[in-house]
Amino acid sequence: MTDFFPLNTGARIPAVGLGTWEADGEACTRAVRFAALEAGYRHIDCSHLYGNEIQVGLALREILGDGGGIKREDLFLTSKLWFTAKTPRHVETCVDASLRNLGLDYLDLYLLHWPTPAPMGDATDPPPAAALEHREEVRQIKESWQVMEALLATNKVRAIGVSNFGISQLQELLGSCLIVPAVNQVELHPFWRQDDLVEFCKRKGIHVSAHTPLGIPGTNIGSLQLPTSVVAAIAEELGKTPAQVILRWGLQRGTSVLPRSLTPERIKLNIDILDWCLADDDWKAINAMEPQVRLINGTFSYLSENAPLQAVKEDEVEQAENI
Ligand SMILES: NC(=O)c1ccc[n+]([C@@H]2O[C@H](COP(=O)([O-])OP(=O)(O)OC[C@H]3O[C@@H](n4cnc5c(N)ncnc54)[C@H](OP(=O)(O)O)[C@@H]3O)[C@@H](O)[C@H]2O)c1
Repeated sequence: MTDFFPLNTGARIPAVGLGTWEADGEACTRAVRFAALEAGYRHIDCSHLYGNEIQVGLALREILGDGGGIKREDLFLTSKLWFTAKTPRHVETCVDASLRNLGLDYLDLYLLHWPTPAPMGDATDPPPAAALEHREEVRQIKESWQVMEALLATNKVRAIGVSNFGISQLQELLGSCLIVPAVNQVELHPFWRQDDLVEFCKRKGIHVSAHTPLGIPGTNIGSLQLPTSVVAAIAEELGKTPAQVILRWGLQRGTSVLPRSLTPERIKLNIDILDWCLADDDWKAINAMEPQVRLINGTFSYLSENAPLQAVKEDEVEQAENI
């Protein structure tokens, strides 16, 4: 069984979490509620960026209420700071908005969403166009991380980490930080294995969480489509689904996985990966899969017309608070 992985804080992160990117409206609330109450998920991966923390919060209120019967300490809630927020005031604005929308007193994990710097602005501003020119720069990482470190003292977050950091960005951060990130959440699936990064993080005591663990099947992003013949053959032999094989591969390399689904049957199947293993040959076959294709490179955040950071709408917050 691989239910949890240890963090360098002494806490434990559940091996499987529910992703919530692009989970909108009531479908999001239904999926989170179903995942926790019917399928046994204890980790929900959120972000202010996703614009749906109010909908996640509606489900959390039920899950943690009398009807749900799950204790707060048994849930693991992650959220993320968008990268225009840098000063302590901006960061507190962001974390307070996430806490208010989710209906929580604290987050178990708060991540710096992207290493990409952007000119300082209000925490709810979309990234200014000028950021495009600088998106590969890392000069403000240290400054942002110091603010994250200070956040720990507020008790609003139990652990801090990063997301989408590569080795050089981590090296830069580790050279100056007081607190080593507990987690690096990055894109990982058989088509983007990032073996060196996973190994580097392991050596530094940084747990790695796999976002986009299924490669977003059925979309036009990148060239990836599931199932591939290798995974499909293994799945058939084991009597599992291709998605289960891919997620189990993620667990066996020591990474937690964050599949997103709005479909109850898939939500259940995606966590039904804890009590069986891939054999060595299957493991090796997946580790040899080609091509390696990165799907999420961050440019969407500047180039999309739907600039992703949505302002927290006060009336929605009030609506959630009144429930
Ligand atoms: N830190 C970051 O920058 C970052 C970036 C990207 C993602 N993330 C996190 O990682 C989570 C997961 O990534 P993702 O949402 O991009 O993509 P993903 O989990 O790789 O794929 C989600 C897609 O897979 C489908 N799916 C789910 N289970 C399936 C199954 N068993 N068989 C076939 N299809 C299945 C879902 O459709 P149905 O809903 O119809 O089942 C959905 O369209 C996100 O939701 C987010 O929380 C973080």
